[in-house]
Amino acid sequence: MTEISHDRLLIIDFGSQVTQLIARRLREANIYCEIHPYQVVTDSFLQTFGPRAVILSGGPASVFAENAPHPPKAVFSMGVPVLGICYGQQIMMHMLGGQVDRGQGTAEFGRAYVTQADGDLPLLDGWFDDGPEQVWMSHGDHVSRIAPGFQVYGTSPNAPFAIIADPARNFFATQFHPEVHHTPNGARLYENFVRLAGFTGDWTMGAYREEAIEKIRAQVGDGKVICALSGGVDSSVAAVLIHEAIGDQLTCVFVDHGLMRKDEAAEVTTMFREHYNLPLIHADESELFLTALESISDPEQKRKIIGRLFIEVFEKHAAAIGGADFLAQGTLYPDVIESVSFSGGPSVTIKSHHNVGGLPERMNMALVEPLRELFKDEVRALGRELGLPAHFIGRHPFPGPGLAIRCPCEITRPKLDILREADAVYIDQIRKHGLYDQIWQAFVAILPVRTVGVMGDGRTYDYACALRAVTSVDGMTADFYPFSHEFLGETATRIINEVPGINRVTYDITSKPPGTIEWE
Ligand code: XMP
Repeated sequence: MTEISHDRLLIIDFGSQVTQLIARRLREANIYCEIHPYQVVTDSFLQTFGPRAVILSGGPASVFAENAPHPPKAVFSMGVPVLGICYGQQIMMHMLGGQVDRGQGTAEFGRAYVTQADGDLPLLDGWFDDGPEQVWMSHGDHVSRIAPGFQVYGTSPNAPFAIIADPARNFFATQFHPEVHHTPNGARLYENFVRLAGFTGDWTMGAYREEAIEKIRAQVGDGKVICALSGGVDSSVAAVLIHEAIGDQLTCVFVDHGLMRKDEAAEVTTMFREHYNLPLIHADESELFLTALESISDPEQKRKIIGRLFIEVFEKHAAAIGGADFLAQGTLYPDVIESVSFSGGPSVTIKSHHNVGGLPERMNMALVEPLRELFKDEVRALGRELGLPAHFIGRHPFPGPGLAIRCPCEITRPKLDILREADAVYIDQIRKHGLYDQIWQAFVAILPVRTVGVMGDGRTYDYACALRAVTSVDGMTADFYPFSHEFLGETATRIINEVPGINRVTYDITSKPPGTIEWE
């Protein structure tokens, strides 16, 4: 639980795939909320948390299951508004004296249209103005009798209890998911809910910045903080915010593994040193990393070597400045949400992700994580608030192992140089055509094959490369970007003409799954 002085809303998670979206909708309305799995929400948790309102999420369970997940009874006696979504509606009815039936033959998935029933409800301001509302259903069981005190306010052909409420107690429930995109007017429903719960919408980035600065000062005192700055949005925003709070008590280390893109190291060091006046060590360790990676082809081995050396190098530079009391990290809220697992089994490791995750255990330092409450788009908003340049905040993600995983098979310095040049031309093309912000991530991979070509009157025998560009919401799934043939043709011509060493350009049209975004 996070210490925060704003009114807070508690989302009790029963394991729906879309619980995070509820938090997003609320944050967009400037409401502070936290998601906690139902297992941790006890009576004493509720008392300490002190929510101004509670939302019960959806989830895959059935109220008929043995030990069916449920909130503590106190949720319904605290005198705060409660909103139940899908499974949240069913468990609410089950606990308050209604009835739920098993889903045999009545399961419903996908789009439905809800029509207004019985009278007005403040929760539904702005709903039904133009007739029935499109919603998204996804449920097996369903409510068959509502609890005493409840009335029906919306129905759909298959859901007679699509929207129900007990206005006297401020209890509301929907069978559908208002948080998803396919319920186009769903955000309005959340806005109405928080308004009637008395939230003032004071969770703004300006307020967040001031509070975060106070909190960092209180935590750090006159201690020293060290931060691994990668040049990515998260670590950059964290560093600038911490620097604003404690000035030169912060030292940043930029570990340059020689696997950065063209001019990247210079851009990062110039911006942070000159523009932000931030104490920054540029640890140019490219020799160390590239030597260790020589003749390594296996993707996992590459990742492990880079991860290990990163920690060693960081420790060395931390020791050189006489150590530090705190380690700063750009951890985000999605990284700290404990998710509810119903499968319980370990998931398969597709790739060992490299980030600074291993550092805290090794270095035994207290953590300063000023972005722990934020989603990625909120970090970007905070970055803008702190004056970071727009082109920097909107940058595509770049993986910790850098170009190593865009150079399948053996990494050589000449191949890296060719890759950097090709990548720079490709990104320049994307920017020139105004496509950069429509794409989640775009890069070139250099392929471990050489192919025959003809340029002028001569034969060439050079590398082939693959262009990659994907759209995605969170990097978990992705689609290839549908460039026009003209764009692809022009880009291939430019790369072949401007980058010696490449004579063939291909476009990767694999989505994720079955592919991954990076090539290794
Ligand atoms: P994949 O290739 O797994 O990538 O589909 C998903 C997203 O994660 C990024 N990525 C990484 N980021 N350390 C990182 O910080 C890593 O080791 C790493 N590997 C992949 C990738 O660029 C994409 O945005």
